[in-house]
Amino acid sequence: MINIRVKNSGVVRLASKGKSPTGILYSAEAERQIPFKIKRVYFITGASPAAIRGNHAHKKLQQVVFCVNGAFTLGLDDGKKKQKIRMRDPSRGVVLGPLLWVTMSGFSGDCVIAIFADDYFRKNDYIRDYDKFRRPAKI
Ligand code: TYD
Repeated sequence: MINIRVKNSGVVRLASKGKSPTGILYSAEAERQIPFKIKRVYFITGASPAAIRGNHAHKKLQQVVFCVNGAFTLGLDDGKKKQKIRMRDPSRGVVLGPLLWVTMSGFSGDCVIAIFADDYFRKNDYIRDYDKFRRPAKI
């Protein structure tokens, strides 16, 4: 159970089909489970257990993150509330809306992360300075 307490987030639930030994299939469709048109997908593999990724927010980008294999800890901070979610169920995605400070840590050795985004990679959409994030009027 993922209980979202921060703003600009939410949980996406995917239906799954099948079981061992032939495996489980999960599917996500744009504008259905994924609440936008998908323009970009990216994966993260090989993060060491001590690594910390993210540490930024986005001005406009919307994303949904899935832990496809293994586990990691997702940190969310909307500027007022913070929460940590242990991601380990491939059928549960977390929406990363705009102006949400995101960190990723605690990666298991077999962790594979998939992220769906509503726009292409744009360097200018990043907020990498936490103080500026806390004062969005100044961005
Ligand atoms: P970054 O978004 O900082 O990764 P994370 O939030 O997981 O720590 O991106 C790391 C690098 O990869 C950075 O140089 C930008 C580049 N990048 C792309 O070229 N395309 C992409 O779609 C993404 C997400 C990152």
